[in-house]
Amino acid sequence: MLKFNANRMPMSDRIETLRDYTNDYHKSVVSPEKFWSEIAENFDWRKKWDQVLSWDFETPKISWFENAELNLTENIFERLLPTHENKTAIIWEPNDPKKNPIHLTYGELFKATCKFANAMKSQGVNKGDRVIIYMPMVPEAAVAMLACARVGAVHSVVFAGFSSSALADRINDCQAKMILTSDGNFRGNKNIQVKAVVDEALNNTEFVEKVIVLKRTGEAVEMIPGRDLWWDEALEGQSEDHLAEVMSAEDLLFILYTSGSTGKPKGVVHTTAGYMVYTYYSFLNVFQYDADDVYWCTADIGWITGHSYIVYGPLLAGATTLMFEGVPTYPHPGRFWEIVEKYKVNQFYTAPTAIRALQVHGTEPVEKFDLSSLKVIGSVGEPINEEAWHWYHEHVGKGNCPLVDTWWQTETGGIMISPLAGITPNKPAHASLPLPGVQPVIVDSEGNELEGNNVEGNLCIKYPWPSMIRTTYGDHQRCKDTYFSTYKGMYFTGDGVKRDHDGFLRILGRVDDVINVSGHRMGTAEVENAINEHSNVIESAVVGYPHEIKGQGIYAFAICDSLDKSAEVLEDEIKQLVRKIIGPIAKPEHVQIVSGLPKTRSGKIMRRILRKVASRDLSNLGDISTLLNPEVVDDIIKGAGLD
Ligand code: PRX
Repeated sequence: MLKFNANRMPMSDRIETLRDYTNDYHKSVVSPEKFWSEIAENFDWRKKWDQVLSWDFETPKISWFENAELNLTENIFERLLPTHENKTAIIWEPNDPKKNPIHLTYGELFKATCKFANAMKSQGVNKGDRVIIYMPMVPEAAVAMLACARVGAVHSVVFAGFSSSALADRINDCQAKMILTSDGNFRGNKNIQVKAVVDEALNNTEFVEKVIVLKRTGEAVEMIPGRDLWWDEALEGQSEDHLAEVMSAEDLLFILYTSGSTGKPKGVVHTTAGYMVYTYYSFLNVFQYDADDVYWCTADIGWITGHSYIVYGPLLAGATTLMFEGVPTYPHPGRFWEIVEKYKVNQFYTAPTAIRALQVHGTEPVEKFDLSSLKVIGSVGEPINEEAWHWYHEHVGKGNCPLVDTWWQTETGGIMISPLAGITPNKPAHASLPLPGVQPVIVDSEGNELEGNNVEGNLCIKYPWPSMIRTTYGDHQRCKDTYFSTYKGMYFTGDGVKRDHDGFLRILGRVDDVINVSGHRMGTAEVENAINEHSNVIESAVVGYPHEIKGQGIYAFAICDSLDKSAEVLEDEIKQLVRKIIGPIAKPEHVQIVSGLPKTRSGKIMRRILRKVASRDLSNLGDISTLLNPEVVDDIIKGAGLD
């Protein structure tokens, strides 16, 4: 079915019926190369590929659309402008509802991108250079990403809530040459310092040559001559024309840091062509976007959801994408719904944690606004519990909007398992079925594939898809060890999954030492390292526990040496330290000072027991007699007030 009245019809890739889905899925498994090359034909290529796919999961080495040449932004702008010049690309809703929103057409966004691309070039950024984007949710942040893609620079967006040391780690890891930032950031009733955090980070790095600063809050900031310049200054005299850099299909598009179960966050690398094809395709099909729809994803561009489904996927599909600077509860708990009414939003995509936080305020704030424009509602980032699913479906979707529970990861680049709105069936709390091109398998602990229904195990993917992780920046071995070594010949997701009696997949959450707090990934090791920086801490262990709003909360156990400080003081100092070292999202909910940690005879911490205590559930504590120090368990239970 053709949706655009023009010679470019990107909507022709949209699945329209369940039968289409079944056929396309089958085709994508039987002839994946044919399947993806037909979708890729939609795009403008400077040079076509020699081979659609070459891969091995051993090295791992994955190459899609080999030797093809393109620029992703030409596929948003030059490809779509003949039909989309005056169509709104980005609607921006500011934090303060009394301030003016911004509407940018594709034509205006193109000019802004070219102008900023020229500014970056004249400040010394070239193809392949790494650029950190540490910015609030403003249209300039999207322009910055697109301008990087235009000049062939590799962007690495860092969520503007991360601390200066987390930012410095990322700058050093990717050896960034430039930082794009703002003076400050409005979030709810807070005015958050941004430039000051950058300045502090830059005391501990040596790579950054230039910092371009957007004036957002107007507060006084220190500008270092020769290094720092204002956004407007950088744009002065720059042309609105820019000839895009020609990129190879596998040239890096961006690096995005994410937490794992060990060590520091790793830089997940995504490359140009495969990511472009997959985010476009998945956006169109999951959300069933129609040509005049207004689509809104509430994520921050600091996360993969913001990359793939605020910026790249929607813009490649010629959509109108809404960017919101603020928070769901400011100035009132109906803000999301007010925005839906104001812009007649058709597709709304958010996280379960936001739904649960709003659920607390009851249905009145939802009912106050007209949500009749909504056609599709979506969920991402963590398992959605059935209660939240039903509340969302009934009160926001009014019982008649398909709810797409989309499972995916920073590493997968795009949505992997999800209903296609109105096409494949909905089942509460089930991500349900894989998208065409995605081949999930459930394996037992030995890596045997569990076929059939009513099985539970670990989720792996056995065949490449275009937007998959290519490497972890600067450390390919880490990529291999983390994702491709647990089960031979497969990509291991780190998630547990169940296939129910109907063949629908339900994601059960992480099976490794990753905690999912409000849809944000935190590595236990990362939080422990921060806690261990406290001068009184001898050893610590961090676990996740079920949290009503956040999905999971962080619970830390610490052995301390100081007896001259009260436990209360130590607990508070530890919380503040984690906040300072990583950022507010990593601050533990609970810190318990303990005399010892339960260890196996080989010295490994028995986290299972700690998880039980943190969850306040002492049933099935299991056999503790094999522990090196079983006596500490009683102390820990007592200390948690559970005796
Ligand atoms: O555990 C899964 C959970 O979030 C993890 C990926 O986190 P991140 O890379 O930060 O990306 C989040 C946004 C894509 C997964 O390993 N997760 C994500 N979506 C879902 C989910 N768990 C259950 N259901 C989902 N829909």
